[in-house]
Parts: sequence; structure tokens; C-alpha cells
Amino acid sequence: MLKGKTAVITGASRGIGKAVALNMARNGANIAVIYAGSRDAADEVCKNAGGLGVTAKAYQCDVADYEVSKNVCEKIAADFGAVDILVNNAGIIRDNLLLRMSEADFDAVIDVNLKGAFNFIKHLARLIIKSPAGRIINISSVSGIMGNPGQANYSAAKAGMIGLTKTVAKEFAGRNVTCNAIAPGFIETDMTASLPQAVKEYADAVIPLKRMGTAEEVANVAVFLASGLSSYITGEVIRVDGGLCM
Ligand code: NAI
Repeated sequence: MLKGKTAVITGASRGIGKAVALNMARNGANIAVIYAGSRDAADEVCKNAGGLGVTAKAYQCDVADYEVSKNVCEKIAADFGAVDILVNNAGIIRDNLLLRMSEADFDAVIDVNLKGAFNFIKHLARLIIKSPAGRIINISSVSGIMGNPGQANYSAAKAGMIGLTKTVAKEFAGRNVTCNAIAPGFIETDMTASLPQAVKEYADAVIPLKRMGTAEEVANVAVFLASGLSSYITGEVIRVDGGLCM
């Protein structure tokens, strides 16, 4: 479905990003695996993708850093020559009730989740508009749609990503580039592994489909949005949340 395309996925060494990267590789895309710190995990993703017959390279990058992101995007351009798909997936949480939230925790979450997405769109846009069917996919969250106590920073960043998605969709539509967001609900990854048992039980009780989702279930939607099957969808937010936020 993505044969011959090149995809850049941030935060791709584990969790949802890893599932997206490997699913895209299984569908024929060459992949640039952006990771923050764990070289071994990123190399493992590349090794697995390489076994599928595509080109895969790992790049260390703090997506929140504008200049570092620029340098990494330039390296990707030199290595791959073209970029068709960008998935802004890197994200962090620093949860606390607003009255207790530090300025540093607010800034860190906005910088990684929201500015990180801006940085990669900004630095790869010229390449992506050269693609016959460029695709930008931002991993937002249901927290950005409905808010969530303890996540003033995160829900603001994820809501910001939805605004960013719609503006980019409008600005690049004339170049046949689509930009969409995915809003996952509770997904089983390292990010949610540390949630207290009571929160997990509450989640299972309130989610209409009565379970948390898997990274693969998010990745399937990312592959759909990256493919020709979604050619008339842009500026959309697709929830992958088992019905939690309807
Ligand atoms: P995760 O914590 O397993 O993975 C996040 C990835 O982002 C990691 O590989 C991490 O190294 C990378 N990352 C963090 N800061 C970075 C930085 N400054 N520069 C580069 N990479 C950085 O989390 P998970 O669950 O896989 O989340 C992926 C995305 O999905 C995130 O944006 C998250 O906010 C979003 N999401 C996750 C949900 C869940 O229930 N797991 C629900 C809704 C959204």
C-alpha cells in the first residue's frame, strides 16, 4: 500500500510510534526512525524493518529543539532524497492538577508534543510538497478534545495539534498534501503502563468497547491515512478510543 514511499516517524523506538513504523514498513515504506535516547531500541526497529526489504535508518533527535530537528531533517533529505509521509508521534506526559503544575512541566509538554510537531512539519514541508501525494499525520489525543483533569499541559498541547492539523491541511491542500490527526484514547503502551490500577479499571468500565486499545490499532489508522485509500480526507481528527469520547 505504501511501496516506494518514505515515511518519517518521530518517537518511533517504542509504543505507538514503533507500531506505526513497522506497519508502514510491512506495507512497503522506507522509514526514518526518530528516537530520543534509546539507540538500541531504534536499531532493533530498523533491523526488523530491514528484514521486510525496505530501507530503515535511525536518527537521534530531541524534537522540541528547532535547530537539532532542522539538522536531522537535512540528514534525512540527504539519505532518502524524498519524504512522502510524516508522522508526528513523539510525546510526553507530566501530569499534575493545575494548581500544582510547575511552569517547567507545562513548557516541557508543549515543547515536545506541540512544538515538536511544528518543527518537523516546518523542516520537512518543502520535501513533502514535492511528493505526488504527501501525508502529514499528527498523533493527538482524546485529552485534546474533551480535556482531562491533571493534564492542563497535555490537553492544551494535543488540542493545539488539532488546530495545527487543520491549518496545515488548508495551507498545503493545493499541493495535494493531506494533514490529519489521530486522537487515541487509552492505549496499552509504556506511557499508560504506569497508570494506577484504579484508573485502568475506571477506563475499562467507561470505554464502550470495554478495553484499552493496542498500538497496532492506532498504527492501522495511520497506515490508512498515509495511503491512497484516504485521498479525499484532510483536516480530519479520527478518534481511536473504543468509543470513549463520542
Ligand atoms: P511512549 O512513551 O511509549 O512513546 C513516546 C515516544 O516519544 C518514545 O519513543 C519517546 O522516546 C519519544 N519522545 C519523547 N520525547 C521526545 C523528544 N523530545 N524527542 C524525540 N522523541 C521523544 O508513548 P505512546 O503511548 O507510544 O505515545 C505515542 C503518542 O501517542 C504520544 O504523542 C502520546 O501523547 C500519544 N497518545 C498516547 C496514548 C496512550 O494511551 N498511550 C493516548 C493518546 C495519545
